[in-house]
This record gives sequence, structure tokens and C-alpha cells, in this order.
Amino acid sequence: MKKIYYLLCVLLLVQCSKNEDNNPTDKGFVIPDNFPAVKYNLIENPYSNEKRELGRKLFYDARLSRDNTVSCGSCHQQVVAFAHAGHRVSHGIDNKLGTRNAPALFNLAWNPLFFWDGGVGDLDLFHINPIQNPVEMDETIPNVITKLKTDNNYTDLFKKAFGSSDITPLRFNQALSAFMISIVSNQSRYDDYIAGNTAALNTSEKEGLQLFNQKCANCHAGILFSDFSFRNNGLTTGADLGRFRVSVITTDSFKFKVPSLRNVEKSGPYMHDGRFTTLEEILDHYATGVVKTNTTLDTILQQDGTLGIPMTNEEKNKIILFLKTLTDTKMLSDTRFSEQ
Ligand code: HEC
Ligand code: HEC
Repeated sequence: MKKIYYLLCVLLLVQCSKNEDNNPTDKGFVIPDNFPAVKYNLIENPYSNEKRELGRKLFYDARLSRDNTVSCGSCHQQVVAFAHAGHRVSHGIDNKLGTRNAPALFNLAWNPLFFWDGGVGDLDLFHINPIQNPVEMDETIPNVITKLKTDNNYTDLFKKAFGSSDITPLRFNQALSAFMISIVSNQSRYDDYIAGNTAALNTSEKEGLQLFNQKCANCHAGILFSDFSFRNNGLTTGADLGRFRVSVITTDSFKFKVPSLRNVEKSGPYMHDGRFTTLEEILDHYATGVVKTNTTLDTILQQDGTLGIPMTNEEKNKIILFLKTLTDTKMLSDTRFSEQ
């Protein structure tokens, strides 16, 4: 009896000290009620705030690059929804330029495929790409692991996150993924509005929402503002063949992943090659700029023999006003996602 009592006390103590470690108000990765089922495999890598904390430190650590100058956070900046402010295409190590625009990062747990062409299907297998890319970080995972092992802070953080201080590639990837999926964007004024606060949007914004639903939501669909399909939205084409590079199916040429439009006010430059810098240019593109340089142009953008989506200037302006209600200022300033 005494033994059981003693055991109970020890268990309670362990439990209490655990609670002290965690900030009880920090609920970590919470799946919003009105979001679909997550695509990320939470069974293989159960989420914990300890993994997120480790992942956050890795995300902002320039030692992930060959010359210790470029971190993930160099190209993915929180204030602009983790896109790269002012950079049309990626700008990495030795000032080298890539060919594609750094996308905004949030709600990644719902993303079935990564990259503009969907070239990677598993977030845990993603991180090697920017690290090994010669124009981004130009480093190898074994070298990164060796560098991390020299830092006692990491030994501690790996222990907290995974129960032992072993630093392995699998754990490294899982921690980065935990940080990536923890960045959830669902607290914009629009979210407030659909939760029932009708005053959260003004009249023009509500009209913009209706126009958006008629003209844009077939592709930028649902609560995530993307159906995650690959489409040709009528840009003049360049050398980048998009989805074709992955599938090698001709009918996939010049198709790119439909991006989410949450936080789009902040995340420019826009499109896979960063060709547009303002939302006005985007609306002009859809209204009068759509071109058919290839048979893969989406059928939605060539209805009744007309290219593009007919819109008056007033309609364009209202859609822009609506798009700005998708800015999630809480996410953009949440210190759990910051370098600190
Ligand atoms: C030099 C700039 C640069 C660095 C450094 C960088 N990225 Fe990126 N990131 C990009 C670009 C550009 C793309 C889009 C590439 C493409 O689609 O081909 C991208 C795409 C992504 C995506 C896919 C998003 C989506 O919606 O498909 C994720 C996730 C991501 N990066 C996370 C990271 C992480 C984690 C790191 C650090 C290990 C990192 N990035 C380092 C520029 C960068
Ligand atoms: C036929 C599907 C389709 C329709 C309809 C559509 N879009 Fe797009 N949209 C796309 C695709 C695909 C891309 C990415 C294309 C690329 O980068 O090559 C995109 C990109 C964008 C971007 C750039 C986002 C970023 O992060 O770079 C914005 C903004 C945008 N669309 C807004 C709109 C608006 C507003 C409408 C309605 C007027 C609309 N779209 C209608 C498919 C569509």
C-alpha cells in the first residue's frame, strides 16, 4: 500500500513538472473546426510543442547552409507570411538567384504536394531540397548534423523533443515539419466574418467576396483558398514547364499549383516567377491579360470564346478589398513563429 502511495506521488510530481515546462495557454498545433482533414501524417510524427520549438530554431539557423549565411528564414519571412519580400525569384547563397518565387508558408498540413510543380509529396522529405540546392543553401544533411552536434543547446532541444539527445536526419526533418505545420492561418477578418460576426466586413468587402466566389473560387477554392490542383492561368509562358517537369505528361505543360490567397496582401511578388508585384496587376491579368500561348490554358479562362474573366474596374477594386480581409495579422506577428 505504502509502495503504491509512493509511486502515485512520484507520478504526480512528474506530471506537475511536465506541466510547468509547457505554457498551458500555448495549445500548439490546433486543427480549426472548419478546416478539412489534414494531409500531414501526424501518426508517424505526432505533433508536440517541443518539436516545434526545435524546428523553429532550425528554421532560423544559418548553419543549415554551406557558409553559414542563409537560413530558411532568409527566404521565408514571417511579416510577409513567410514569403520573400521584394524578391521576384529566390535569392540564396553567394547571392545566387533561382528561377522561382518563394511561396508564402502556412496551413502546410493541408497541402498535398509541395513546390509550384508539386515535385515533393511528403513534408518530412521536403527539407533536403532547399538545403542541397546549389543556389539556395548548398549544404549536405550529414554536414548540417555534424554542425548541430557541436552545439549543446541542440543536444538539449533534441532531448526535449524526442526523449534522447541523438541528432539524426529523421528527427531533424520531423522537427522542421512540426514547426512548418504549426503555422496555421485562420484568424483573418474573413474568418471572423464566417464565424458569424457580420460586422467584420464592410459592404464593399462583402460585395468583393461575392464577386470572388463567382469569378475566382473555382480554383482558389474553399476555406484554404486553393483546390491544390495544377492549372495554366493564362500567363505568357517562359522556359518553366511547371507540372510537366514532374509528371512528364504533355497536357501538364505550363501548369502550376493554385496558391492559397490567404495573406496575399503581404506575400508578393506573385506567381511562380514573381512577375507581378501588386494585386492590381493580378486583377488586370485576369480581366484583360490572359493569353492562350498553349493548349493547356484552363477552360474556365476561355469561356464563350472570351479569354480571361470579364470584370469592370469597380469589380476589380472590390475583389482587391476582399482579398485584403484575408490578412491574418495574428499569424504574422505570433512570437511562436518568430526568430525571437
Ligand atoms: C534561397 C531561398 C530559399 C531558402 C533558403 C529556403 N527556401 Fe523554401 N522555397 C524557396 C522557393 C523559391 C520555393 C519554391 C520552389 C519551387 O516551387 O520550385 C520554396 C518552397 C518552399 C516550400 C513549399 C511550399 C509550397 O507551398 O509548396 C516549403 C515548405 C519551404 N520552401 C520550406 C523551406 C524550409 C524549411 C527551408 C530551410 C530548410 C527553406 N524553405 C529554405 C526559397 C527558399
Ligand atoms: C483557372 C483557375 C484560376 C482562376 C479562375 C483564378 N486563378 Fe488565380 N491562380 C491560379 C493559378 C494556377 C495560379 C498560379 C499560377 C502561376 O504562378 O503560374 C494563380 C495565382 C494567383 C495569384 C498569385 C498568388 C501568389 O501567391 O503568387 C493571385 C493573387 C490570384 N491568383 C488571384 C486570383 C483572383 C483574384 C482570381 C479571380 C479574379 C483568380 N485568381 C482566378 C488559378 C486560378
